[in-house]
Amino acid sequence: MKNLPKIELHMHLEGAAPPSFIRGLAQEKNVDLSGIFNEDGSYRFSDFWDFLRVYEAATSVLQSPEDYARLTRAVLEASAQSGVIYTESFLSPDFCGGRDVGAWRDYMHAIREAADSVPDIEMRGIVTCIRHFGPEKARETAVCAAETMGDFITGFGMGGDEKVGRQGDYAYAFDMAREAGLRLTTHAGEWGGPDSVREAIRDLRVERIGHGVRAIEDLALVDEIAQSGIVLECCPGSNVALGLYDWRSHPLPDLRKRGCKVTISTDDPPFFHTNMTHEFERMADVTDWDEAEFTALGRVAVDAAFCDADTKAKLLKTLDA
Ligand code: ADE
Ligand code: ZN
Repeated sequence: MKNLPKIELHMHLEGAAPPSFIRGLAQEKNVDLSGIFNEDGSYRFSDFWDFLRVYEAATSVLQSPEDYARLTRAVLEASAQSGVIYTESFLSPDFCGGRDVGAWRDYMHAIREAADSVPDIEMRGIVTCIRHFGPEKARETAVCAAETMGDFITGFGMGGDEKVGRQGDYAYAFDMAREAGLRLTTHAGEWGGPDSVREAIRDLRVERIGHGVRAIEDLALVDEIAQSGIVLECCPGSNVALGLYDWRSHPLPDLRKRGCKVTISTDDPPFFHTNMTHEFERMADVTDWDEAEFTALGRVAVDAAFCDADTKAKLLKTLDA
């Protein structure tokens, strides 16, 4: 499994920061983050909402483009170790310069340059607004996305607390991003049920959905997703770690059987004690999928990736080699 080439579409850059990396930066900057770690050094949180708090506390020590460059190198090197050949990472102007377009540009360039320096893995950025920061900040984030759209920043998305507001409250930001030519995804059907997924499709007109797994609670919606070709960025290990399902009850195989395009990603790997190899291994444990099935999943992910046709052709060649 480790050496099987993998395509990852859903990973938060700050969420991929190893706890040792964050502890190191905290020491350098004299920031006391002792409360967010367990004695064994791992991140400590009790549920999703506590996870968001710890995530934001950890992120507070990432204070410059150089910090993000170091983070990017560390994260991509770890991903490549797991056989990942292409990754799309959520990038947050909220944390990278407080949504100031000029500052964001500097962070984005540093991240991109760092990504280019890591061999054997290709990266694209999805600029992401944070739902619980509200629609006004989402609009400012969309401006950052539109201003830096190109062959590296190719998408716009939304993460954060799905229980805050409604998907449609963020329609203006998504409309701006769409008009700029960005590809769209939003977290839905993780902490919200089928209604949240329906609203994401209707009000934000996204082509991919982050998680989307709770669509399984409404089989008419599952049919609609299958018919429309909307892609689900499933992160089973994240769902298991946060207590939504266990591996045996995770709906990914059922969604696939019912015709949905599903993909596998890690979300926030060190927080959830996972990596792409671990995701593939656990999924192999609970299905009868062989290597060819996982390669087929990889092809679905390449097809759904927010990158150019030449890059996709290269990735397919590696998958099929
Ligand atoms: N930000 C980082 N991880 C997230 C998740 N699993 N859901 C929503 N927002 C997130
Ligand atoms: Zn996520």
